[in-house]
Amino acid sequence: MPRATVARIHLDNLRHNFRIAKERAAPARAMAVVKADGYGHGIERVARALSGDTDYYAVACLEEAAVLRAAGLSQPVLLMQGVHEADDLRISEAENFTVVVHSPHQLDWLKAGHGRPEVWLKVNSGMNRLGFAPADLGRVREQLAQAGIRVAGVMTHFACADDEQSQGTAQQTEVFDRSTTGLGDIVRSVANSAAHFRPGQPLFDRTRPGIMVYGGSPMLERYGPELGLKAVMTLESRLIATRELATGDAVGYGETWRATRPTRMGMVCIGYGDGYPRHAVNGTPVWIRGTRAPLIGRVSMDMLAVDLGDIPAATIGDTVELWGEHIPVDEVAACAGTISYELLTGVTRRVPRVETGASTSVNTGSDL
Ligand SMILES: Cc1ncc(COP(=O)(O)O)c(C=O)c1O
Repeated sequence: MPRATVARIHLDNLRHNFRIAKERAAPARAMAVVKADGYGHGIERVARALSGDTDYYAVACLEEAAVLRAAGLSQPVLLMQGVHEADDLRISEAENFTVVVHSPHQLDWLKAGHGRPEVWLKVNSGMNRLGFAPADLGRVREQLAQAGIRVAGVMTHFACADDEQSQGTAQQTEVFDRSTTGLGDIVRSVANSAAHFRPGQPLFDRTRPGIMVYGGSPMLERYGPELGLKAVMTLESRLIATRELATGDAVGYGETWRATRPTRMGMVCIGYGDGYPRHAVNGTPVWIRGTRAPLIGRVSMDMLAVDLGDIPAATIGDTVELWGEHIPVDEVAACAGTISYELLTGVTRRVPRVETGASTSVNTGSDL
């Protein structure tokens, strides 16, 4: 008999969210970011579900792009970290992967003729992770032209687009715009999910929405549903035991929670071994029988405890939503001092992903 802990993947909600991204991006075109195993939802699953809506995918690396091709998906794929080895240029050319070039060593591999895939250049507009200095763009493009390689696109990435108060995004946009204006017939791309929600933000030609497609909020201190987004993953388990605690009884490792009154508690069959965050604090909500119940005590590897005081009818076998339609993943993330990205990508292989929505089928485990 299977363990009653599953991640339900709502493909209709995935498509709903991507369509919001497309509407917000227009007249720019959105490409679906499906890296990190489709933000934990299964890269093949989400890429297939979006294949009628997106004409381009974005991933971090070649291995992820290869999964898309193996699944029979033919759209171009943007490798946002570019290639990690010279020989991957040949594979990228053969597979129609667009390779981001962000560093001189990648430029050298291209100049040495290891392969001629479509190329985008990455500009460092201020985040200081990857990318050429704005002043070097023209020279890099010239060198590629001499090697017979046309630059099809140019991109940058924002450091603080999630923060409505920050001036950094406007500054990065200005640096990017100034350094890429006049490059001629070239695609320009800056926008992560957050940029889609910033009033007046220029989105250029192509946007790269990730977290919003999965229903997570890209904005600080806001939850996905406030932005019209729907949860794609519902993380769900069951009550497997209940217990009456007397005043003064502690629960779980480290005795971090103690009853201040007689309390009925329940044990839920999920823990950090499934990807539920161990750092979730006392009071982090779960959803049982249409009501919120607070987490009590420290999360264990395979289970966690909740206070059932407000849900007298709760009983063994009841379904417990850890996050999803009723409990925003952003809220759980805030209770654990992290972001929805980490929670969604951190659901472990032990948790079967069960699809709902059109193209319904049941899959076990993640795709990568
Ligand atoms: C270069 C790049 N573009 C786009 C994205 C998508 O970002 P988000 O999930 O915030 O929309 C990422 C994700 O980290 C990224 O690294």
